[in-house]
Amino acid sequence: MKRILITGGAGFIGSHVVRLFVNKYPDYKIVNLDKLTYAGNLENLRDIENAPNYAFIKADICDGGLMDRIIADENIEGVIHLAAESHVDRSIKSPMDFIHTNIIGTVNLLNAAKKQWQGKNHGRFYHISTDEVYGSLESGFFTEETAYDPRSPYSSSKASSDHLVRAYGHTYKLPVVLTNCSNNYGSYQFPEKLIPLMIHNIQSEKQLPVYGKGENIRDWLWVEDHARAIDMVFHKGKEGETYNIGGNNEWKNLDLVHFLCDLMDKKLGRGKGESRKLISFVTDRAGHDMRYAIDASKIKKEIGWEPSVRFEEGLENTVDWYLKNDAWLEHVTSGAYKEYYDQQYKNR
Ligand code: NAD
Ligand code: DAU
Repeated sequence: MKRILITGGAGFIGSHVVRLFVNKYPDYKIVNLDKLTYAGNLENLRDIENAPNYAFIKADICDGGLMDRIIADENIEGVIHLAAESHVDRSIKSPMDFIHTNIIGTVNLLNAAKKQWQGKNHGRFYHISTDEVYGSLESGFFTEETAYDPRSPYSSSKASSDHLVRAYGHTYKLPVVLTNCSNNYGSYQFPEKLIPLMIHNIQSEKQLPVYGKGENIRDWLWVEDHARAIDMVFHKGKEGETYNIGGNNEWKNLDLVHFLCDLMDKKLGRGKGESRKLISFVTDRAGHDMRYAIDASKIKKEIGWEPSVRFEEGLENTVDWYLKNDAWLEHVTSGAYKEYYDQQYKNR
C-alpha cells in the first residue's frame, strides 16, 4: 500500500501524520485531502509542501461523488481518515456540522473505498477516533471492550462513524482498523482547545476561562506520539481491530492550568503567581464529561507502541513553540492564512 489518502491533513493531528509519512516514506504518494475549515491550515505543512511524494487536494468529504472520483483517480490503496469537526463546545452550539462531516463524510469515504477496492487484493481504511465515545469514567480505565456511551453531539457523531466503519468491515468485508485516542497536545493546535488557548491568553494577559471548578480530568498525549502510533497501526494493526491510545497521564484541568501559569511566569519573566491571577471560573460546559483515562495495554502488547515524551517536557516544548510562532497564531486566528492558500494553490 503506497498510495495513501490522509483526510484532515491540514489540521492539528493530521498535519503531524502527513509530515511523518512524507518524511519517512519517500516511495509512498501521500495525498492530503482537506476542506480547510477554520481548523485546517496549510501553514502547518509549509516545511513539506514541495516534497515530491506529497500532494494536496482541497475538497469536502461531504461530497460523495467527489470522494468516489478522487479515490479512483488517485488509485488510492489506503485511507487514514482524520477529517472531522473536532471541538466539543462547537458541537454543543451547532450539532449539524458534526453530523454532516463526521457521519455522512465518513460514509462517503467508506463507499468510495468500497467501490475502489472491490475485487482487489489491497486496501486499508483506518478511522481515527476518540476516547470520548466511551463516555465519562468514575473509576478504572477505558478498554477496547468498554461499552459506548457518548454524551456530547461531538462524541455521538464520532461513535456513529465508528459503528459505521465497523459495519462496513463486517458487512462488506472492507479492511478496516480503528483507534480511539485521548487528548492530544503539541504544536499547530488551533487555539480554541484548552492548552493553546491558555498559552495564548497567559501570553496576552487575558482571562483564563476554567469551566466549572476545574475538576474534570483528561489524559494528555504528545501529538507526535499519536502520529507514531497511527503509523504503526496503519502498517501493523490487525484487520477489523480497535486499539486504544493514551498517555497514562491524567491531569485535573485546574492543576494543568496552574502548571502552565507557573511555567509561563518563568518564561515571560513575570513574578511568581502573576499569571494565576488571570484564572476565572466560568459556567461549566453543558454535559461536561468528568474523567477520561485510557488503558493502552493492547496497542503496547500487540503493536509495540509506547508514549515517548514526558508531559512536563512536552508541555515546555509546546509553550516554547507557541511563543516562537506568534505569527502562526495571528494568522490562524485572523484567517490570514486563507490569502496564503489562495496564492499557493490558485493555479493547481
Ligand atoms: P482539527 O479540528 O485540528 O482538524 C480537523 C481537520 O479536518 C481540519 O484540517 C479541517 O479543515 C478538516 N475538515 C473538517 N471538515 C472537513 C470536511 N467536511 N471535509 C474535509 N476536511 C474537513 O482536529 P484534530 O484535533 O487534528 O483531530 C483530528 C481527528 O482526530 C478527528 O477525527 C478527531 O475526532 C480525532 N481525535 C482528536 C483528538 C484531539 O485531542 N485533538 C483526540 C482523539 C481523536
Ligand atoms: O479526549 C479526546 C478529545 O479531546 C478529542 O476527541 C477532541 O477532538 C478534543 O477537542 C479533546 O476534547 P476535550 O473537550 O477534552 O478538549 P478541550 O481542549 O476542549 O477541553 C479540555 C478540558 O478543558 C475539558 O474538560 C474542558 C476544559 N476547558 C476547555 C476550554 C476550551 C476549560 O476548562 N476551559 C476552556 O476554555
